[in-house]
Amino acid sequence: MGINILGMGNYLPEQTLVNDDFKKFVDTNDEWIRTRTGITERRMAGWEPVWYMGKEAALSAIERAGIAPSEIGLVIFTTVTSDFLTPSMASIVQNEIGAVNAAAFDLGAACTGFVYALDTARRFLYTDDSLKYVLVISSEAISRFCDFTDRQTCILFGDGAAAAVVERSDKMYSCALGSDGSGARVLFTRNLAPAPEVMQESDFSDGFPEKPKHLLYQDGKAVYKFAVQALPAAFELAASKAGVTKDDIDWFVPHQANVRIIETAAKKLGVSMDKFILTLDHFGNTSSASIPLALNEGIEKGLIKRGQKLALIGFGAGLTYGGIILEY
Ligand code: COA
Repeated sequence: MGINILGMGNYLPEQTLVNDDFKKFVDTNDEWIRTRTGITERRMAGWEPVWYMGKEAALSAIERAGIAPSEIGLVIFTTVTSDFLTPSMASIVQNEIGAVNAAAFDLGAACTGFVYALDTARRFLYTDDSLKYVLVISSEAISRFCDFTDRQTCILFGDGAAAAVVERSDKMYSCALGSDGSGARVLFTRNLAPAPEVMQESDFSDGFPEKPKHLLYQDGKAVYKFAVQALPAAFELAASKAGVTKDDIDWFVPHQANVRIIETAAKKLGVSMDKFILTLDHFGNTSSASIPLALNEGIEKGLIKRGQKLALIGFGAGLTYGGIILEY
């Protein structure tokens, strides 16, 4: 009951911001950012809407998969930075790429979005015989929601998109998904649609920290603490389901948030950093796009080869986490 990743593609915004560019906004420097996070530069969406980046990544994945858009039965789109509350990004892309026979919806699991979406795609493939191909797209423009006066947060994120076309396959596969909603308040972006003026005033508080307008709030230390246990846990849970150990895995493809988080997870798992695909230095944290961007880069560079076993492991707002072990 596994899947085959038939083709992948990506889109990266034109503009690049290097660490020193952040000196214009906050008191920081290249050395601090590099040593504390592992990031050197990141892309920033300028004119590119989130759906557009997703569309470009999707077209590249479809071409590499060697299929026609009309053969896609479902489009799943993940993002934490949707251009619209409605319609879904998936519906817009479905039309733009000519996937005329596809259903379409967005899926929200923050930075774990691609892992959740890939497993959702698999479940659809096995419960609907009429589906042949599912297109999973992850696209993010986090720069639009960053507080460029918060030096602890704004330096971490980057923008970009990646996509994958998947089909049913008897290759090995296992997945473990999880959530700890008690951590919802340590990483969030508010949707601040004001109540209509006719509504009565209330002093109701939802308990989330105040943050101006729609900007991303992060308690960096709390997220860090969660991440260093969630990444290894995501792997262990998926591995035990699959009946494999770390030694069976050729490549670990982790969510790219902070190289220190990945190093700590690698140490806990007893796995060499050489087995981890890293894109953090040049893309930063691109939320749900980070795992598929790393996967795509590993494939493009010829590191990830057909027949190898991969562990995709992620965590994010929610707080969510998830791991997939699959054969490429
Ligand atoms: N440049 C220079 N100094 C900075 C800085 C920056 N960009 N950001 C913070 N600092 C300073 C702090 O103000 C602090 O100074 P002080 O000691 O004088 O108070 C010092 O550096 C250490 O700050 P601290 O918060 O302890 O740094 P850290 O090592 O914990 O790193 C994060 C901060 C945010 C990079 C780290 O906690 C992290 O990566 N958290 C997880 C975030 C994450 O993964 N988010 C996305 C999840 S999907």
